[in-house]
Amino acid sequence: MKATSNLAANRKPPHANGHTGATTSATTGATVAAASAETATSALRDERQRYVPRGVFTYHPVFPASGSGATITDVEGNTYLDFAGGIGTMNVGHSHPAVIAAAQAQLARYTHTCAHVLTPPLYIELAKRLTEITPGDFAKKTLLVNSGAEAVENAIKIARAATGRAAVIAFENSFHGRTNLALALTGKVRPYRANFGPFAPDIHLLPYADCYHSDGDDCGGWRAALERFFLTHVAAEQVAAMIVEPVQGEGGFIVPPDDFLPTLREICTRHGIVLIIDEVQTGFGRTGRMFAVEHSGVEPDLLLAAKSLAAGLPLAAVVGRAELMDAPLPGGLGGTYGGNPVACAAALAVIEVFEREGLVQRAQRLGALALARMRDWQRRFELIGDVRGLGAMVAMELVHDRQRRTPAAAEAAALLVEARQRGLILIKAGLHDNVIRLLMPLVTTDDEMTHGLDIIEQSLAAVSALTPAQLEAAH
Ligand SMILES: Cc1ncc(COP(=O)(O)O)c(C=O)c1O
Repeated sequence: MKATSNLAANRKPPHANGHTGATTSATTGATVAAASAETATSALRDERQRYVPRGVFTYHPVFPASGSGATITDVEGNTYLDFAGGIGTMNVGHSHPAVIAAAQAQLARYTHTCAHVLTPPLYIELAKRLTEITPGDFAKKTLLVNSGAEAVENAIKIARAATGRAAVIAFENSFHGRTNLALALTGKVRPYRANFGPFAPDIHLLPYADCYHSDGDDCGGWRAALERFFLTHVAAEQVAAMIVEPVQGEGGFIVPPDDFLPTLREICTRHGIVLIIDEVQTGFGRTGRMFAVEHSGVEPDLLLAAKSLAAGLPLAAVVGRAELMDAPLPGGLGGTYGGNPVACAAALAVIEVFEREGLVQRAQRLGALALARMRDWQRRFELIGDVRGLGAMVAMELVHDRQRRTPAAAEAAALLVEARQRGLILIKAGLHDNVIRLLMPLVTTDDEMTHGLDIIEQSLAAVSALTPAQLEAAH
């Protein structure tokens, strides 16, 4: 199952305790790379601080030199297990040979022509493949762009052009990207929306169906809020689109109840509203289906894919009903780089790898391994308030008080440090940054998965033992 790679032979053994010349941290007692081995890293850290704006946040002061499968080796030669996968971009694993070969072959043929001048045949081939693998038994077309945010922007444009309506419904605690329209649709103030207004008008954020963070049995009152919205804010027949993540990603892996998406589908169909399913983070096998919306049986009008679509090359897609996709005028959609043939070649290889290596099934297996361990930890560590997930999109929420769900954000930050010091790259999520989420490549082997989970368990024990002063000092 594990992806082979021409880099594997150079990898330092084993990420189990992959740091050479280790020393001990005064604060946490964990192992960290020795000072002598830190020269390249500290130089890069200084230069990053000097030349890259602070807005370009990074979780880890680790600078990659090469990657293979589920591992990343840094400029010091330390090898880490990577359970972040470029925030869900590397589902086929780092440096997959089939992706490298496809991209290299296209690079050698020609790099770019711009689809508006001469459309690369690979653009057309990928457009067709995406209409075949996305849910919905109807005629579809595909627009290729460069990023998730750009896919979001274009989906809203298409919905407005198709309906002649303006209003858009999105959800609280969502994340749809960092461009101005995507930010208007994003339901988290810090760090995303703060300081960046004004935003596009006629965009309305309603509560997402979030059962864990609400006390009643109505999962945050999402249904009543929707009904009230059409009575008090905007007439349903003036709403162009509803955009929703089938599982909220940046919002902390919030898995809605089973009736959420079918209810949205029913409302959209009844009122002629375009249902846009944002699969930028949930897509490409992550949840144990090729697209997360498939769990619900709902067919989106427009589906957005990015991240793992092209294994890290900048590519995103809007795939949707042909008649909607054709609503904008010729020239109304596109851009200089959209559907770059090297990225398209990589994406076509990714789709083949998924089929050949059974990565959708693999996501189910990896997710089950992680969930079982997390549920066991939840019994043993008071810190874990909730464990949740769908397929290999699994997370645990850290709290101080299980009853009141008080966010344990400093502990989550400390856990990332502890795990890194043991050779595992992790990232967080959630409105309060207290959710540890797993986005490991789907080529992660069972042994790697177990090893990564062992590291998380050790890190949980270490963090649980920290005093408030140590926590404070560590961050
Ligand atoms: C659900 C969702 N939509 C949109 C985006 C924005 O994608 P990008 O960062 O490629 O613009 C993201 C990024 O994390 C995402 O998770």
